[in-house]
Amino acid sequence: TIVPVILSGGSGTRLWPVSKPEHPKQLLPLTADETMLQLTAVRTQGFDAASIGRPILVANIAHTDIIDEQLHQIGIDDYQVILEPIGRNTAPAIALAALEAQPDDALLVMPSDHVIADLPAFHAAMAHALPLVKKGWLVTFGITPDGPETGYGYIQMGQPCGDAVHEVVRFVEKPDFANAQTMLAEGYHVWNAGIFLFRADAYLAAMERHQPDMLTAVRTSMTQAKRDGAHVFPDAMAFHACPSDSIDYAIMEREAHVACVPVAMGWSDVGSWDSLHAISARDAGDNAVRGDALLLGARNCLVHSDGPRVTLVDVDDLIVVVSQGEIMILKRGESQKVRKVTEALKALA
Ligand code: GDD
Ligand code: MG
Repeated sequence: TIVPVILSGGSGTRLWPVSKPEHPKQLLPLTADETMLQLTAVRTQGFDAASIGRPILVANIAHTDIIDEQLHQIGIDDYQVILEPIGRNTAPAIALAALEAQPDDALLVMPSDHVIADLPAFHAAMAHALPLVKKGWLVTFGITPDGPETGYGYIQMGQPCGDAVHEVVRFVEKPDFANAQTMLAEGYHVWNAGIFLFRADAYLAAMERHQPDMLTAVRTSMTQAKRDGAHVFPDAMAFHACPSDSIDYAIMEREAHVACVPVAMGWSDVGSWDSLHAISARDAGDNAVRGDALLLGARNCLVHSDGPRVTLVDVDDLIVVVSQGEIMILKRGESQKVRKVTEALKALA
C-alpha cells in the first residue's frame, strides 16, 4: 500500500502579503480554485499501479481546523493528521508519519506547496520507483534544471538501476551559485523535487543510522501521543527535545541506497510571485490575473487581488498584490525582494 504523507509546515514568507504565518501558501488558492493543500491531497487519484491508503498529513497544531475544513470541502473524510506542537523541519515530520504507518507501507512524501501540471507523468514516475522501494531504497524524483537555482537540492545521477531509475551518486542540498553552475555544466544533475517514495521501515532504519537522537525523540513523542478521531497529538515535551533538520541534510546526503527517477511533469515549487506568474494561465498580453482586474494595454503583469478591483493602464512587468487590506507593487523579475519586506516588517514590530 502507498500511503500519501503530506507535509504542511512551511510559512512561505516570499509570497507576502497573501502568505502569512496564520495562513501559509499551502492553505491558499494560488494557482486554481482549490488550495495547494487540496491539489496535493487529490494528486494520487487515478494512480492504479498500487493501492493507495489513507493519507497522513503532518502539520502545525495551529492549522488543525483549517486543514479539516479544506479536506472536507473536497470530500476527503478518511485521513489522519499528526499535529506538531512546533516545527522541527522535515526529517522529524516524516518520522512521525513513518511511525504512524505500517512498517511495510510505502510512504509517498509530498510537500503541500508544489504544482504538478502533468499528473500522468508523475504517476508513471511513481510506478518506475516501486520495484526499488520494495527493496528498501529511498527514491527521489529529479527535475531537469532551468538554471543555477540555489534554493533547491541537486541530485547527481549515476548508472541506471532499473527502468527509468538511476543510482544517486551524490545529493547536494542548496549549493552556492558557483557550485550550482558547475553541476549544470557537468550534466546528469537534476533538482530534487522534494517528493520521496520509500518504505516506512527503510526511512526509520536510515534515521537510526544517521540521526539516532532524532529518532529517539520522535519515537517517545509518538508512544506518548494523545489521539482524538483523525487527530494525533505527539507529546509536546518529547517533540520539543527533538533536533531540527531537513530530510535532505539529515538523511538523503548521508544515505547509500538512494535512487532517482528523472521526470518532466510540469513541476514548480511556487516559491515566489515571479514563479507564480510563470506557471499561471495568461492572457494574450502575458498577464496572469486572479481576482477582479481591469487591464488596458498592460503587458507581462501579475495581478492578485482578494477584493478591490485593480486597474492597470499601459504598464509592463508589474506585480500587483492586494490582500487583507495591504497592497504591494514590485517589478516583475524582482520578487525575491519580498524577503526584504518581511524583514522590514519584523524590524518595525
Ligand atoms: N509538517 C511539517 N513540519 N512540514 C514542514 C516542516 C515542519 O517542520 N518544515 C517544512 N515543512 C514542509 C513545507 O511546508 C514544505 O511543504 C516541505 O516541507 C518542504 O519544506 P521547505 O522548507 O519548503 O523546503 P525547501 O523548499 O527549502 O527545500 C526542499 O524542497 C526543494 C523543492 O521545493 C528540499 O527538499 C530541496 O532539496 C528541494 O529542492
Ligand atoms: Mg519549498
